[in-house]
Amino acid sequence: MRKSNILIAPSILSADFTKLGEEIESVEKAGADWIHVDVMDGHFVPNITIGPVVVESLKKITKMPLDCHLMVSKPEDWIESFAQAGASVITVHAEATAHLDRLISQIKSSGCKVGVSVNPATSLSVLEEVLDAVDLVLVMSVNPGFGGQKFIEKSLEKIANLREMRGEHKFLIEVDGGVNEKNIGELRNVGADIFVAGSAVFENKDRKKAIEGLRNATL
Ligand code: DX5
Ligand code: ZN
Repeated sequence: MRKSNILIAPSILSADFTKLGEEIESVEKAGADWIHVDVMDGHFVPNITIGPVVVESLKKITKMPLDCHLMVSKPEDWIESFAQAGASVITVHAEATAHLDRLISQIKSSGCKVGVSVNPATSLSVLEEVLDAVDLVLVMSVNPGFGGQKFIEKSLEKIANLREMRGEHKFLIEVDGGVNEKNIGELRNVGADIFVAGSAVFENKDRKKAIEGLRNATL
């Protein structure tokens, strides 16, 4: 962790895919902490993006932890593939499985850190029984599927409630969707620890300015 105690995780969904290696190098040099990889299957969300083959290539060119956000139906079919490809964190959606407890154990056995995510319309109550077993909870602050969407304001209250629920548990709180310099300070104040930022980072040619701007806005 850095001095501000937060993590910035640029989402490569907003990167230029014709030069993905350079894009990742640019944010690594600019001080990014994690790389957020949005995996979409065209079933769980209305878009198709990245699979384990790409994660395997990314693993070779960066030291940053690969934060794999699985927006897929039947996530249980994909855990080992992403773990073997080099994922550091695997985050699954509570909505995508009937057996969240089993899926969490599966991710742990694969050697990856475990994240669980909830969509904007999903209550945090679905996580109550697993909060002792996860490394992070990812609060979606947009409806998943696309980068560059508008931040859903109600997410602030949800994050504040999640921090209350954390109590003695150790998990980190990650927020994903519409994070920018204007709202990141407030998101930090209500309890978020990890900030996914796609367009806020990759739409700024000066990556250092973008990442430092986000980080400084949390201080
Ligand atoms: C949305 C993805 C996000 C998205 C964030 O489905 O999970 O990670 O890429 O992009 P921005 O920061 O542009 O909202
Ligand atoms: Zn994401």
